[in-house]
Amino acid sequence: MVHIDYWIAALLSALWIMLPAYIPNPAAVILGGGMPIDGGRLHADGNRYLGDGKTVRGLLLGILAGVLAGGVQLIVQTQALPAFLPRHTLLSVLLLATGALAGDLVKSYFKRRRGIPQGRRWPVADQYDLVAGALLLTLVGAPAWVMANLTLPVLLWILVLTPVLHRAVNLLGHSLGVKDVPW
Ligand code: CTP
Ligand code: MG
Repeated sequence: MVHIDYWIAALLSALWIMLPAYIPNPAAVILGGGMPIDGGRLHADGNRYLGDGKTVRGLLLGILAGVLAGGVQLIVQTQALPAFLPRHTLLSVLLLATGALAGDLVKSYFKRRRGIPQGRRWPVADQYDLVAGALLLTLVGAPAWVMANLTLPVLLWILVLTPVLHRAVNLLGHSLGVKDVPW
């Protein structure tokens, strides 16, 4: 059953790698609010730059939550961690958490430019913004870490798992009353 072990190892590696990037979005939903990052300003096209869904507090506390989760991982991996799991660094944690919400901001910018109102769904982009942001920023800031740890099977799992987790977490957030819409 070598192949099953191989794919399960890749699945767990994908989750371990992406945890600092998965935490910031739900954390921003719970902890965000207040002053919008764009200060309410309108783009020349008449729509908001980002909208009221992108707040300073959500951005900062979301990144902080992702970094704290990664900080726990940094501690755990010095104690006991199966050898097949990749090792985070402080840099990988910072880049993944920051990149996730940077991707979210860039997505909202382009959503507004397309005239899609805040909170309305924009399939594919809503699910993959954090993956694109987190992995691109980490590739730029820590290319050797990405090359060493982001194998093709791990990347495939990230692409499969992210929309599933995204959907599950949003349904949960909606049913708990934390999120207005189930997407
Ligand atoms: N949030 C925040 N600050 C951020 C990101 C998110 O405060 N930087 C909070 C907001 O309350 C937001 C909620 O999390 O409404 C859900 O986030 P998201 O789905 O990313 O934003 P939307 O409101 O759907 O806006 P958009 O259409 O721009 O994606
Ligand atoms: Mg949304």
